[in-house]
Amino acid sequence: MSLKLQLNNVSKRYGNTKAIDSISFDAEGNNIIALLGVNGSGKTTLLRTIAGLERADEGSLSINNEELGLPELRKIATLVFQRTVMFSRSVYDNLAFGLRIRGLEKEKIAGEVSKALEAVGLRDLDRRKAKKTSGGEQQRIALARAFLLNPKILLLDEPTANLDVSSAKIVEEIIKNRRTKDCVIILATHNLHQAKRLADEIFHIHEGRILERATPAEFFTNPRNENTKRFINGELQF
Ligand SMILES: Nc1ncnc2c1ncn2[C@@H]1O[C@H](COP(=O)(O)OP(=O)(O)OP(=O)(O)O)[C@@H](O)[C@H]1O
Ligand SMILES: [Mg+2]
Repeated sequence: MSLKLQLNNVSKRYGNTKAIDSISFDAEGNNIIALLGVNGSGKTTLLRTIAGLERADEGSLSINNEELGLPELRKIATLVFQRTVMFSRSVYDNLAFGLRIRGLEKEKIAGEVSKALEAVGLRDLDRRKAKKTSGGEQQRIALARAFLLNPKILLLDEPTANLDVSSAKIVEEIIKNRRTKDCVIILATHNLHQAKRLADEIFHIHEGRILERATPAEFFTNPRNENTKRFINGELQF
C-alpha cells in the first residue's frame, strides 16, 4: 500500500491574513504535486504547515489515517527552502551534520552521504567548501541533505527558482527519480512548464484555497475554474 497524506480543512492565519483557508486534499505516495499560484497565494504557508513548521489554526493533517501533531510532522516531512543555507564547512560536513546528531557511526555516515551525493550527481564535490559551490550545486546539495532524512513527505519551495535551464533540468530529473510509493512530493513553482513536465497533479492555489486540482493535461487544456483560466493566461493577480 502506498503512503497516504490527508489534509482536512486546514487553515492558517497571520494576523488578519488568512494565508491558507480551509484546505482539504489527499495525496498518495508515488505522486508529485505541483502548487501553482500568484505571489502571496499561500503556497509557502501550505508547505510550512505540512512540514510542521507552522501550527494550523484549524483542521488536521494525517498520514495513513493517523492524525499527526507538529513533532511527528517534522519527523516525517522535510522542506527544502527556496534559499538554501550552507554551513561554512565542506559539502560532506553539511550532509553529515544531521546524521552525526542522530548518533550514526562514522562509516555508516560516510556511506549514506556518498549515496546521497551520488543521487544528485555531485560525488566529486564532497571535500569542497559548501559556500564555494554554485547556486545550482547548492540546490542539489540541499536536495541530497533532504534525501538523507528519508522523508515520507518531501516538500520543495521553488526548487529551481534561481537556476539556469540546464541546472533546472538536472534538478527536475533528481526530483523525478525520487518518486516512490513511500513518498509524496509537493513542490511550489512559478514555472508552468516545470509543473507540466514534473507533476502528476497540479493544484492551483489562490487566496489560500485550492481552486483547481487536475492532471497537467487537463489543467492546461481544459481548466474548469474561470480564475484558473485567467491565471494560465497571466491575467490573475492576488
Ligand atoms: N510570517 C508571516 N507573517 C505575516 N504574514 C505572512 C507571513 N508569511 C506569509 N504571510 C502572508 O500570507 C500570505 C501567503 O503567503 P505565502 O508566503 O504562503 O505565499 P506564496 O504563495 O508562497 O507566495 P510567493 O509566490 O510570493 O512565494 C501572504 O499574504 C503573505 O503576506
Ligand atoms: Mg512562497
